[in-house]
Amino acid sequence: MTLAELNASVRDCQQCRLASKRTQVVVGAGNPAATIMFIGEAPGFHEDKQGEPFVGAAGKLLTELLDSAGLSRNDVYIANVIKCRPPDNRNPLPDEIETCKPFLMQQIQLINPKVICTLGNFAIRTMLGKQVSITKIRGEHFEVQGFDVFPMLHPAAALHQGNFRVLLQEDFRKLKKYLDNTHLMQPKTAEQMGLFG
Ligand code: URA
Repeated sequence: MTLAELNASVRDCQQCRLASKRTQVVVGAGNPAATIMFIGEAPGFHEDKQGEPFVGAAGKLLTELLDSAGLSRNDVYIANVIKCRPPDNRNPLPDEIETCKPFLMQQIQLINPKVICTLGNFAIRTMLGKQVSITKIRGEHFEVQGFDVFPMLHPAAALHQGNFRVLLQEDFRKLKKYLDNTHLMQPKTAEQMGLFG
């Protein structure tokens, strides 16, 4: 399956209650050959209207943070744990996450990034299958199933709590340092993209 085929198959998804309230499915956006993937929580009001992740206020902050790490939105791929907006931006429910998780896992497989930056509690919990607390594990990075995972605070939380913004800026400084040391922003080779041999 290609990313385009996955996107097409998710677009009409009716597998959970969120289908009836959404304007459109927000699958993901960015560079399909990205070495860095960001995973947020769920589309909000603006994402639901525009069909793209992180286009509202939290998205603006994310773009600034990416810039601080020498990255543009075209360098990375951005997705969410769940692809449809929960009514009134409530938290995703466990069964909604379970239903949507295979789509996220397929995206990860197809993009095959080196680094996965999770934003907020829901993304890191989904990656680890564990009820960890983001405030406790942020700031470190570790390997999960062959990916370097950087758990970060969610930009929306940083918009509301000033001290979180400083911590999130610190998370992005650490990401930049890691990228500078590993030269990960060099383009993938054809071999790494599975296009060779
Ligand atoms: N918050 C998220 O987690 N994802 C978005 O796409 C927008 C806001």
